[in-house]
Amino acid sequence: KIVPVILSGGSGTRLWPLSRTGRPKQLLALTHADTMLQLTARRTPQDARFGAPIVVANAAHADVIADQLATAGVEGALLILEPMARNTAPAIALAAVAADPDAVLLVMPSDHVIADPDAFRAAIDRALPLVSDGAMATFGIEPDVPDTGYGYIQAGDTLADGVFSVARFVEKPDRATAQGYLDAGGHYWNGGIFLFRADTYMAALDTHAPEMAEAARAAVAGAAREDDRLFPDPVAFASSPSDSVDYAVMEKADRVVVVPVAMGWSDVGSWDAIHQLADRDIAGNAQHGDVVAIDTQRCLIRTDGPLVAMVGVSDLIVVATGDAILIMPRGESQEVKRAIAVLKERG
Ligand code: GDD
Ligand code: MG
Repeated sequence: KIVPVILSGGSGTRLWPLSRTGRPKQLLALTHADTMLQLTARRTPQDARFGAPIVVANAAHADVIADQLATAGVEGALLILEPMARNTAPAIALAAVAADPDAVLLVMPSDHVIADPDAFRAAIDRALPLVSDGAMATFGIEPDVPDTGYGYIQAGDTLADGVFSVARFVEKPDRATAQGYLDAGGHYWNGGIFLFRADTYMAALDTHAPEMAEAARAAVAGAAREDDRLFPDPVAFASSPSDSVDYAVMEKADRVVVVPVAMGWSDVGSWDAIHQLADRDIAGNAQHGDVVAIDTQRCLIRTDGPLVAMVGVSDLIVVATGDAILIMPRGESQEVKRAIAVLKERG
């Protein structure tokens, strides 16, 4: 069976003021009634194909995660609880060491939307024969803008129906380079989802990041276990270099393949993306919480705090929590980072 490995370690500041260190994006309900983590876990229902998931997360979130999985009806999950963040390559390594060496791992971010899970599962099936044979599969999303927040994959030779070799994997290129890839065609965004055998991953890590592989093995060997929770040895894990799977492994590994897939993928990276994904009323407003909207068009209005009344405005993003309110024009929501920079300076 395929073992889903859900990565839930990011802190995510692009959805401030809602996402905070204590309640990162994946633990929030943003596009649906379910949280992003719950949507992710439900995407691979335990059946003939998928086993119980491994969730790799920050130890501080253990109880919230356990609650959310239980509410979503997900049973038998193993929680690997990191004492500190070392980015995605070491997080995946913990799961790879904890799993059976010949287990096939489906590594998934916990904070994406996939509108067509059937298409996703069909893409997994296409990759599986090559993966069982030692390939590392990525899932390629057709790009529409030269976004610099993604990895780019150049497809090479056809290896099987709908599966291509990866000619090149470039993590987060600059804008001019990304535009060049769009103009050239034959390039995909890396969806951040990976399929490989546990032993394939560890062998790649031994080659390209041996200290990371060693640290993960030591951290799991010295781990404390409490029921369904695994606490890696903090000293061993702390000694791991910090790097993402994209830089540490995928850019360098040999047998990487890409499965292009149209599955309504979004990484829900901004308030604008949420306005796009959420249900909207006839005036184009997406509302959540205690909201009154009069003569108001195409706004995202979300409150988890005070009543918000909007009169005679359009194309705004308004997000209110108990202690902060964000107001900005629609279409520029990446600029929230400017507010965060000022807040950081204020301390
Ligand atoms: N357990 C754990 N520990 N999870 C982590 C950690 C960590 O230290 N750091 C990040 N994660 C989780 C995040 O919560 C997220 O679900 C996933 O790993 C990916 O991390 P991001 O920080 O969101 O990566 P990114 O968005 O910069 O880039 C990745 O995703 C893009 C698609 O959204 C890359 O894979 C890109 O190539 C890809 O295009
Ligand atoms: Mg991301």
